[in-house]
Amino acid sequence: MSQATNQSWGGRFSEPTDAFVARFTASVTFDQRLARQDIQGSIAHATMLARVGVLTDDERDTIINGLTEIQGEIERGEFNWSIPLEDVHMNIEARLTDKIGITGKKLHTGRSRNDQVATDIRLFMRDEIDVIEAELVRLREGMIELADREADTIMPGFTHLQTAQPVTFGHHLLAWQEMLTRDHERLLDCRKRVNVMPLGAAALAGTTYPIDRHVTAELLGFDRPAENSLDAVSDRDFAIEFTSFASILLMHLSRMSEELVLWTSAQFDFIDLPDRFCTGSSIMPQKKNPDVPELVRGKTGRVYGHLMALLTLMKSQPLAYNKDNQEDKEPLFDAVDTVRDCLKAFADMVPAIEPKKDSMYEAARRGFSTATDLADYLVRKGVAFRDAHEIVGQSVAYGLKSKKDLSEMTLEELQQFSATIEQDVFEVLTLEGSVAARNHIGGTAPEQVRAAASRAREALAALKGDA
Ligand code: ARG
Repeated sequence: MSQATNQSWGGRFSEPTDAFVARFTASVTFDQRLARQDIQGSIAHATMLARVGVLTDDERDTIINGLTEIQGEIERGEFNWSIPLEDVHMNIEARLTDKIGITGKKLHTGRSRNDQVATDIRLFMRDEIDVIEAELVRLREGMIELADREADTIMPGFTHLQTAQPVTFGHHLLAWQEMLTRDHERLLDCRKRVNVMPLGAAALAGTTYPIDRHVTAELLGFDRPAENSLDAVSDRDFAIEFTSFASILLMHLSRMSEELVLWTSAQFDFIDLPDRFCTGSSIMPQKKNPDVPELVRGKTGRVYGHLMALLTLMKSQPLAYNKDNQEDKEPLFDAVDTVRDCLKAFADMVPAIEPKKDSMYEAARRGFSTATDLADYLVRKGVAFRDAHEIVGQSVAYGLKSKKDLSEMTLEELQQFSATIEQDVFEVLTLEGSVAARNHIGGTAPEQVRAAASRAREALAALKGDA
């Protein structure tokens, strides 16, 4: 048989594969990343085959020893990956046969590359999800700690990016934290559907050997064998679910990034990011650029792209396995790497945020952010809300002209607009009074922020690793 014809399936072919076609159809350049999981799956498969009497115990041990040695060769960078051997599965199998002879060829009994690859990706995704979860937990913990520390720090809250009402910085951080809580739940939910075992589906219809799929599932830590062989080899929903999770998470991180970028600007001047998260400009010596949040914001696009790629990849595919499915790996690998790196960047950076409290406070004071508090005060004194709105509107117009915040006006000045206003108005016109008054669950009062931070800590501890 010619060199370029694959030994694993060349039997029925009368001419070698075209060199370009061999390269075009090969996946080994990227799917070698699944080598560890491929070997893990093969060891479990061989163990099960011996358990049901398809392999002898000696054959099983020879296979496992061979695979373990191959694992070492791969880790040491000594393994010679071959494109004519197409993919990670056939590369490893061919090497096994090189090493142990005929017994190596028995490993593939009762299995196909179709259920093998589906199993490998699921094992890989499960491993990566656990690493990603650990980074997400680290980020959430850091965010909750910072929020607790900054429960009393006052900043302007915005709608339409216009100063609206004062809030606490801790409250703002806990809003971010809520987004991440939902992402965390989505990730763990996705993991449940990842952790189902395709092995045993073989090419598409199952196998005639007396396999025990429960044994293999248990050896590999899967929750259960997949229910239907056709579905097992063709389903890539879990990859789409993961990239959906990833897209929503990156959308959230990009919103946080956008705020960090704004806040570090001279125009906002709300926070400082330590130098190690920033870079300079080669031409403008004064610059310190928030590269890390900018890059996270930018990387969101490629993750959305991977979600679209996978949805489109699966659209209209007939059952069961199609070669199209080989295209699932690169988007998935890049999504995994991007999510992990962005979470790491954020988990390192968030605890290092240095709020510029005076500057935040001053910004909240400048924007008439307690105008709603004055209206609520008038309502409490019996004024109808619409009239109160009008009175406060006139007070703000006066403040704009006279360049005074509401809290800086004298009682007489305020009384021009309503005789109902009395000395006690100044308790609500201060920023501290304004935030403290929003004292209910979900409100921005420092007392509530501290309570919310402690609830968040408990909820995180309960959710962590809950798969
Ligand atoms: N390299 C293939 C993939 O990644 C493995 C399965 C190929 N199966 C087949 N019958 N061609 O999807």
